Amino acid sequence: MTDHLPPAPPVVRLTEYTKTEQIEIIGDSDDPFGVADAGLTWLPKEDHFGIRQKGRLVAHAGLLRLPISIGEADTQVVGVGGVAVAPDLRGRGLARLVVSAAVDHARTMGPQHGLLFCRPPLVPLYQRLGWRMLEQDVHVEQPGGSVIMPLRTMWTPLRDGAKWPAGEVRLRSLPM
Ligand SMILES: CC(C)(COP(=O)(O)OP(=O)(O)OC[C@H]1O[C@@H](n2cnc3c(N)ncnc32)[C@H](O)[C@@H]1OP(=O)(O)O)[C@@H](O)C(=O)NCCC(=O)NCCS
Repeated sequence: MTDHLPPAPPVVRLTEYTKTEQIEIIGDSDDPFGVADAGLTWLPKEDHFGIRQKGRLVAHAGLLRLPISIGEADTQVVGVGGVAVAPDLRGRGLARLVVSAAVDHARTMGPQHGLLFCRPPLVPLYQRLGWRMLEQDVHVEQPGGSVIMPLRTMWTPLRDGAKWPAGEVRLRSLPM
């Protein structure tokens, strides 16, 4: 007998993602991503992917192309951020769906690597989605100058066989 699973909800490109849309997903908490302790200034994302259920936005992942230097090379990465799923719908694969759709799009943007920052407890989740830990310090810009990113840094190849190059890593912008 075949199992009839409900069809996966479609991921759509969002034309707008503001505080209003974020509140629609995760509510109006002071620190929905649990990163306020880090005291960082973040960049908004440019491309937005979402899942709607019965008209309500329930999941989001955002993308932004950013300049980075790795060793002597100045290059770009696609930053992934603002990953959020409605609290009542977690654990059902919605983050997998929306992050996968965002990464599929990131593959068309040019850079060889996707990059994200997350709290340590989320490392296993992103590893499950194919991301790898970057086991070195990553410098990022902040309004007061360059700092070492206190969160975990993870990357994913956007081209077949792309490896992370050796060398000091400096994101040449605020983090995403
Ligand atoms: C983090 C968050 C987006 C996860 O959303 P979610 O819809 O519950 O995640 P999914 O159900 O898609 O899980 C993704 C995968 O990780 C796996 N996973 C979840 N928790 C895990 C854990 N602790 N260890 C290992 N794998 C885990 C799931 O099994 C799933 O893998 P599978 O598809 O192979 O079964 C959600 O909890 C959230 O919105 N949190 C608040 C905002 C936040 O912290 N965002 C992250 C910013 S970096």
